Amino acid sequence: MTQPSDHQPVMLKEVLQGLSIRPDGVYVDGTFGRGGHAAKILAALSDKGRLIVMDKDPQAIAAAQEQHAHDARVTIIHDDYARMKHHIEAAGLALNVDGVLLDLGVSSPQLDDAQRGFSFQTNGPLDMRMNNAQGETAAQWLMQASEQEIADVLWRFGEERFSRRIARRIVEYRQHTLINDTDTLASLIRECVPSPRGKEKGKHPATRSFQAIRIRINRELDNIQTVLDDLFHILKVGGRLLVISFHSLEDRIIKQFIRRESTPPRIPKGLPLRQAGITAQVRLRAIGKAIKAGLQELADNPRAQRGAQNRRTSRLMRRVYWLMLLVVLVTGSALTVVYVKHESRVLFAELRQVQKLQDEEMIHWGRLQLQNSTLLTQANVETMARKKLGMVLPDNVQIVTLPTDE
Ligand SMILES: C[S@@+](CC[C@H](N)C(=O)[O-])C[C@H]1O[C@@H](n2cnc3c(N)ncnc32)[C@H](O)[C@@H]1O
Repeated sequence: MTQPSDHQPVMLKEVLQGLSIRPDGVYVDGTFGRGGHAAKILAALSDKGRLIVMDKDPQAIAAAQEQHAHDARVTIIHDDYARMKHHIEAAGLALNVDGVLLDLGVSSPQLDDAQRGFSFQTNGPLDMRMNNAQGETAAQWLMQASEQEIADVLWRFGEERFSRRIARRIVEYRQHTLINDTDTLASLIRECVPSPRGKEKGKHPATRSFQAIRIRINRELDNIQTVLDDLFHILKVGGRLLVISFHSLEDRIIKQFIRRESTPPRIPKGLPLRQAGITAQVRLRAIGKAIKAGLQELADNPRAQRGAQNRRTSRLMRRVYWLMLLVVLVTGSALTVVYVKHESRVLFAELRQVQKLQDEEMIHWGRLQLQNSTLLTQANVETMARKKLGMVLPDNVQIVTLPTDE
């Protein structure tokens, strides 16, 4: 039986603190893996608590079945966490979830199993699908994608400087030979990329490209975006989202989400509204700052220890585990959404009112300007002076210019 203890969960203490588990609460672990985090969450729940675990990897789901099939508190779902909202709604738990955990990326068992094709350390079929029961493999994709598309993926998802060169080499090579295994792909990349130097020294030249292709095959960034956008249909008011991310592309999406949802809307100057009232309407509050895994954790983690036997791998593992933890408190969901919408409608109405008043003022101002300019014509001034003040303009003959003192 797969024991969760086989896999040491990352940043366990921070995860448990961050989720601030309520014994009777409802929790979702969207990335079960081998259940390291799930087991600890479960241990903190009472008989009334619930844990929904998801993973798109059939092997992870098999492990979840082995570990928890008989626990009535646990629901096991084999699906992408991008469909979390659908499952939560189907279970009647919409807006009732106390906490969601996402431990992003690949698991150690996935990396270690050469048959999954995630790693260039040992040769295996070029698969890279997290759900290896469906969808296109990396080999299939590389055989049919255009050179431009391959280059784009390597650049966007791997920030690979030699993306064009690698794409050209792949397209050239595939004209006569299949790229079916990880060794072939890694050697093609090695031909195009100079040995990493400086900060990147010791890193395998294929690291960035493998990451990029994996992200493309599993649509990883799209899935993160989807689940974040759906959070306000899942979490209850005061519910928490906790994300462990592995690289800057994931980080960026999460940070942008936090910024977008926790920044109050700017109100135009002059509106009769107070910023404090608007600030209270943000849907989300970030708790604390992103936390990085400590060196102690790097040292304690079995993968890092294993890596220490091989200096190159050791550096690689340090990078992998140099991760970020983001804790987010959603201060309001459904109610707040409605309220925010309502507030924005009020704001909109007030803005329209102000604009209408402004338009009327402009028309009035225009009329006055017109009147003013008409009144200021010489003939008008003369008429008014004559009629209202009884003044008479002198003839030109009567006008004498007096010399000045100078
Ligand atoms: C880093 S591991 C999680 C490890 C887990 N926290 C533990 O303690 O064992 C990431 C897991 O998330 C899964 N995964 C990645 N993307 C997913 C997605 N979009 N939907 C569902 N599962 C996903 C992977 O298959 C993998 O099993």
